[in-house]
Amino acid sequence: MVRAALLPALGAPLELTEIELPEPGPGRVRVKLAAAGVCHSDLSMTTGVLRAATPVVLGHEGAGTVVSVGEGLSTVRPGDRVVLNWAPACGHCHLCGLGEPWLCENQYAASVETYASLADGTELYPGLGVAAFAEETVVSERALIPLPEGVPLTSAALLGCAVLTGYGAVHNAAKVRAGESVVVYGLGGVGLAVLQSARIAGASPIIAVDVTPEKEELARRHGATDFLVADEQTAKAVRKLTGGHGADHAFECVGRGSTIRAAWSATRRGGRTTVVGIGGKEDMVSFSALEVFHFARTLTACVYGNSDPVRDLPVLAEHVRAGRLDLESLITDRITLDEIPAAFERMAAGRGGRSLVIF
Ligand code: APR
Ligand code: ZN
Repeated sequence: MVRAALLPALGAPLELTEIELPEPGPGRVRVKLAAAGVCHSDLSMTTGVLRAATPVVLGHEGAGTVVSVGEGLSTVRPGDRVVLNWAPACGHCHLCGLGEPWLCENQYAASVETYASLADGTELYPGLGVAAFAEETVVSERALIPLPEGVPLTSAALLGCAVLTGYGAVHNAAKVRAGESVVVYGLGGVGLAVLQSARIAGASPIIAVDVTPEKEELARRHGATDFLVADEQTAKAVRKLTGGHGADHAFECVGRGSTIRAAWSATRRGGRTTVVGIGGKEDMVSFSALEVFHFARTLTACVYGNSDPVRDLPVLAEHVRAGRLDLESLITDRITLDEIPAAFERMAAGRGGRSLVIF
């Protein structure tokens, strides 16, 4: 039995409970979590903005060590340090074949199959296939990314969602170049990772925008050259900071129609907006036909930073070792499993950076 934070049903409070994990079958691996980050997507699953099969053990940003492996599996061994991948690519679908594994048609397959149970036999689903809010989990070997040396196992958890996503949004999706101007809407774990990644790219200026004025200090520490409190004047202020043009790149890290629209409006003619946040099904965004033509901007989303995690993690690890990527300062709260509801409250109020569950 291992301890886990369970969402019994949509809208219900999280429950701390003991769960029973099966021994890993063929192709599967049991992992002991060292740490798990609390992401807004976890909160969105409790509110129903994102759908998850329930009862579900949430948590999809984690790192740990391999405990045991299923029969015949040779890709990893007990003791290996791994980061968990919430969008593992199957390698054989149409989109994997096109070289876009982050859009794999089977990436959510694991999240709709039960993986563990309660003492009374109730079957449980793994949040995004990972179920990192538990002392241990069992996942497919495809959901493991080997963690290179030189990165502490606890802060490595953040690589599994916020940092792969944020770094990939800047470097894989938007392909920001040195000297380009960047504006980032929403400064949670994901937005802060985007700021650091823009700094690595040599972007300038790097303008951070949030509704919460208290985020300014955090934003500047992560690479922002300027900070704006979001209001109706934000696009105008961004133009002022970019020679009257608007930003070359905007990144939306909130997950709302209104901020997608605001980010788009803050870019220059021909600029690019990369949507990183995940919004609701009924949350609409609108553009006039004339402005779509006139501004000739690009609006695109990215999934998991358009990353190939096995290819990209060594790059991130090198940035960490060289001191360019600071995982530690993304973590503003180190918590226990019981404290996840409080982390959700901080998040809903727009306070802090990442909360990290330390096991
Ligand atoms: N304009 C600017 N910032 C805003 C706005 C707004 N209208 N509304 C909220 N924010 C800020 C919050 O104050 C907070 O700082 O957006 C930030 C969101 O941070 P977190 O809640 O910590 O979210 P995070 O985990 O970073 O995820 C961001 O990416 O993966 C997705 O589902 C996730 O949509 C979410 C987004
Ligand atoms: Zn996430």
